[in-house]
Amino acid sequence: MSRILIVYGSSTGNTEGIAQKLRDYLTAAGHEVDLRNAAEVSAPGLADGFDAVLLGCSAWGMEELELQDDFAPLFAEMDSMGLAGRKLAAFASGDSSYEHFCGAVDAIEARGRELGAIIMTEGLKVDGDVSSAPDDVKAFAEAVQQQL
Ligand SMILES: Cc1cc2nc3c(=O)[nH]c(=O)nc-3n(C[C@H](O)[C@H](O)[C@H](O)COP(=O)(O)O)c2cc1C
Repeated sequence: MSRILIVYGSSTGNTEGIAQKLRDYLTAAGHEVDLRNAAEVSAPGLADGFDAVLLGCSAWGMEELELQDDFAPLFAEMDSMGLAGRKLAAFASGDSSYEHFCGAVDAIEARGRELGAIIMTEGLKVDGDVSSAPDDVKAFAEAVQQQL
């Protein structure tokens, strides 16, 4: 059994829906999952005590990548989360008609690598809500489990 933290930033509920589905899969597999809304947490020490951290965030920029409002302050302070040497994976809902499709996934992975996190698997990018890619969400949850 592993302790897993899932934190999501979601404005219309799409990334939240993915986070809930991931929580359901990982809980069913016997892991202890703490699911948190980015609006209700702060960065310092956030990852402490967890074996793995899953960060989810939608993107809202037009020409430049803008992270979801609640998640942006956490991203700015990612260095204080305690991610060095810790397992990390990213996920998001997005819209593939935008240039930076699910751009937060790439940003979180890049920053995580800089901070010494271990990227568990390729980030999950869902075009639309959780119902549009159930197989991808399940495959991501399984890939995460294999790295625990
Ligand atoms: C002004 C605006 C900008 C957006 N920018 C992006 C973007 O850069 N990349 C992307 O994948 N989706 C973009 N989207 C789409 C949202 O990220 C998408 O609807 C997503 O599902 C919202 O997820 P949430 O409900 O978890 O916040 C944008 C939408 C709007 C209205």
